[in-house]
Formats: sequence, C-alpha cells, structure tokens
Amino acid sequence: MINGERVIKRPLRWGMVGGGRTANVGYKHRQGALRDNTAFELVAGAFDIDPERGKDFGVNIGVTSERCYPDYKTMFAEEAKREDGIEVVTIATPNGTHYEITKAALESGLHVICEKPLFFEVEQGLEMKALAEKMNKIVGVTYGFSGSQLLLQMRQMVKNGDLGDIHMVELQYTHGFGCDAAGDVKSEGQKWRVDPKVAGPSFVLGDLSTHTFYMSELICPDLKLKQILCDRQSFIGSRYPLEDNAYVLMRYENGAVGRLWTSAVNAGCMDGHRIRIIGSKASVEFSDNQPNELIYQVQGEPIRKMIRSMPYLYDECNADERLGALHAEGLIESWANIYLKFAIAIEAKNNGDEETLKNLVYPDLDAGIEGIRWVTKCVESADKGGVWVDFQEINNQEEII
Ligand code: NAI
Repeated sequence: MINGERVIKRPLRWGMVGGGRTANVGYKHRQGALRDNTAFELVAGAFDIDPERGKDFGVNIGVTSERCYPDYKTMFAEEAKREDGIEVVTIATPNGTHYEITKAALESGLHVICEKPLFFEVEQGLEMKALAEKMNKIVGVTYGFSGSQLLLQMRQMVKNGDLGDIHMVELQYTHGFGCDAAGDVKSEGQKWRVDPKVAGPSFVLGDLSTHTFYMSELICPDLKLKQILCDRQSFIGSRYPLEDNAYVLMRYENGAVGRLWTSAVNAGCMDGHRIRIIGSKASVEFSDNQPNELIYQVQGEPIRKMIRSMPYLYDECNADERLGALHAEGLIESWANIYLKFAIAIEAKNNGDEETLKNLVYPDLDAGIEGIRWVTKCVESADKGGVWVDFQEINNQEEII
C-alpha cells in the first residue's frame, strides 16, 4: 500500500523539457511525479518551444524565474553549474525531438524520463542504451497507462496459471478524435502527429498502440513475439503515408496468437482501450475507462468482476494500492505509480543496487526500444503490402553491433 511516505532518501531535483501551457501531456507528468511529494521536486524547466510563454508558465506553476530556461541546451548547461542542479529530466516534447534531447541529457549526466514513442529507429535506442550504461543513468519511458496495479494482477494471474496456457492476446486502443481533418491544421498537438518529420514513420501505431503493446508485454512477459502482419490506412487522405487506422496480427513463439486494432477514426468511440488475455481455462480483461475492475471469466462458471484493492487480489497488485476499496483510482494514480518506480530505479542506479533494478517492474529503456521495434516492424509489414515479418529480425543486427 502506497501511503505517501518517503520511498527514497530525498526528492530528486527534477526538470522538464516541454509539457508547457498548451501541452497535452505535461500536467499528467507533474501529477504523477509530484503526487507523493517525496520522490521528485520540480525545480527547473524549458517548458515550451516559445521561450516567453514557457517562462511565464513555469513561474506560474512555482518554478523560480531564473530556472525557467529558453531551451533545453541552456537548461542542461546552466543547471550543470549549480550545486543544486537537476539530476533527472523529463522529455515531453513531440516525437522527433526525443532522440537529440535524450542524448544531450545523458551526456550532461542526467537521468532521463522520456515520452513514447521513444525514438524512430531501434539503432537509436541501442545507441542510447550504450550511452546510458556508460553514464550509469536510467532512461524510463512514460507508458502512462501501464501503472495501473490491476495490470500487475493480470501479470500474476498469467504467471500463476490461473488462465491456463495463454492462447490469445486481444488488444485495442482506438478513439474518434481524428475523424475531423480540420484538427490536423487547427490543433498544435495534432498538426505534428500527422507530419512524418516530427511524428516519425507512423501516426496511431506510435501514438496509441505502443502503450497497449507494452501493457501486453507487462502482463505476459514470457510470450515472445515471433511474427507480425500489419495493414494500415489513412482514411483522411492528407495524412498519407501515416495511418489513422491499423490492424495487426501477431504470432508468438509458443504458438499463441494475437490481434491489435488501433485507430484515431473510430467515430464516437469513448472506451476503446482494452486488453483481453485468453487462456485455455479462463480469460481476464482490462478496460482503461473502467480502471477499478477486471473481468475474470472462467469457462463454465459465472462471470466474475474483480474489484481493485480487495484482499483476494495478489500482493503484487495490492502493493501499489493508494486509496483503498470503495474509492476510485485512475490515470493519475497510474502515472504516480510509474514515477515512483522511476525514482526507485534512479536511486538504485546511483547506489549501484543492481538487485533492486533487476526486480523492479517498470517501463525501462528496453521497453522503449521494444516500442520502437513494434512500430518499425508494423510499418515494414504494412508497406510491403501486409505480409508476415519476423519481429526479432533487427536483433540479428544487434548481435553484429
Ligand atoms: P503537444 O504538442 O500538445 O505539446 C508539446 C509541448 O512541448 C508544448 O508545450 C511545446 O511548446 C513543447 N515543445 C515542443 N518542442 C519543444 C522544444 N524543442 N523544447 C521545449 N519545449 C518544446 O504534444 P503532447 O500531446 O503533449 O505530446 C508530447 C509527447 O508526449 C509526444 O511524444 C507524445 O507522443 C507524448 N504523449 C504521451 C502520452 C502518454 O500518455 N504517455 C499522452 C500524450 C502525448
């Protein structure tokens, strides 16, 4: 049970790049990191591509004026000169900037927490992995939905065989907010999402499905993806070659199969983030807009609804409980759980505590690299006309490197 007490010795001095006044995701980072008031303190930022707006915003959320910087390079240089300079930075800027800012941050001796999709190419991920190892730093990835403790319940159910052998993985992350093409021009946050130079090689595959893919890996760590087949479309033609809808079929090494649907044009859909794991005996299902319950269906038995925080859940799940039964938890608690684990990972890295790092379940750099691989292979399959491609092919290159 998380009760807000210190989990690390002292709050980490934290800065942000992006996440400013007009940003979509910045508030979620701050809510997650500052939830417990004991793991992070926000002391600096280059919050905005517009330096004036960024400074005004930073001061308004309580950062001292001198530590609201016009850009990330100035922030890293100036903070490095201070005894009380930042130790960790969050990167919450559009996709195309993640690689260069992560590199600069690691080179400046900072731990990094970066948005998804992490980078555009697996090779960039491997390069950052080598750099992070050299600098002895952590890179965490904010798969923000993945902190829900009910996903850890699902993980334990899979691990303990409650579902039998896992046969099928059903994934969906869809919404309808991309139905209106006008948003591609009017909205600051939507404009770059459909521009390959900034968004990368995909729209919804990177923007949405990387979350759900990671969550499936979290729940089923022993399922190794062998091949995928992807079909992608842009129903709003101006988005081509980026997709606003995609279907992916998966084959796992042990014979299990899976299916993922991701879309920004699922008109009217307001509950489209779902994960269903189907085994030989039973199935379990999580829906992001019902984050306080799991549906557990054993073949031949009445359908069960498992409620968050109840003692019949596994200890690994209830360890991340915050509010107790009868009260709703949601996305902010999910983010807070992830940020708390980032803090624990950073402290462990600083102390050379490899045992803690080995056992900590959180979206780390490897998870970010797998997300890049997921997008890369989906795009490759779709652009070859929707053919099966080996998922781990790039691994061969890793061995050569
Ligand atoms: P946005 O366009 O709404 O906001 C971007 C922010 O970054 C703005 O404040 C902008 O001024 C600032 N910015 C841009 N370039 C900058 C630079 N070079 N230096 C400093 N600030 C800069 O974008 P949004 O939706 O907030 O997405 C940002 C990132 O977060 C993307 O990678 C996106 O994929 C990811 N994201 C993740 C979510 C999650 O649940 N983990 C949810 C939404 C977005």
